[in-house]
Amino acid sequence: MHDPTRPAPWVKLEPTLAKAAAYAELTGELDALLTGEPDGIANAANAAAAIYHSLPDLNWAGFYFLRDGELVLGPFQGRPACVRIPLGRGVCGTAAAERRSVLVPDVHAFPGHIACDVASRSELVVPLLTEDGLIGVLDLDSPFAARFDAADQAGCEALAAVLVRHLTRTMLT
Ligand code: SME
Repeated sequence: MHDPTRPAPWVKLEPTLAKAAAYAELTGELDALLTGEPDGIANAANAAAAIYHSLPDLNWAGFYFLRDGELVLGPFQGRPACVRIPLGRGVCGTAAAERRSVLVPDVHAFPGHIACDVASRSELVVPLLTEDGLIGVLDLDSPFAARFDAADQAGCEALAAVLVRHLTRTMLT
């Protein structure tokens, strides 16, 4: 029996709506997965894995956390990555310094992009913001140019708002 609260599977959704629905589902799944576990590292690790395996066409998904004024690599899925990123440097450092999402359709055209995996062609970085300020960023990379659009950004920002609740209870300092 089809669940009437979800889009009927036979309805071909307009792509932006389909993405919004997929992100809403992933956000709910992550909230359920992380609820009840107070350890921030465990929750960040499970979140990175769930995101990496849920969203198509990614080659890297994970976290950098703010420590002593710079970004330090957190749990992730993908190839080994650079460990420390100064605020203002690269896509991650820009998103962190400006406390805003940065969507890069072509990383080769972004001055200062830090290439951790040469396969990466596009990138989306979303700041993780609490009432007390920035705690880090969520970083998604794709081997395809223009993989991310405004619907991905909105979906990831909603995801980030839920994630920070599960990352700050025992934070990672
Ligand atoms: N490309 C990022 C660095 C992190 S990796 O993509 C995992 C940047 O320019 O900040």
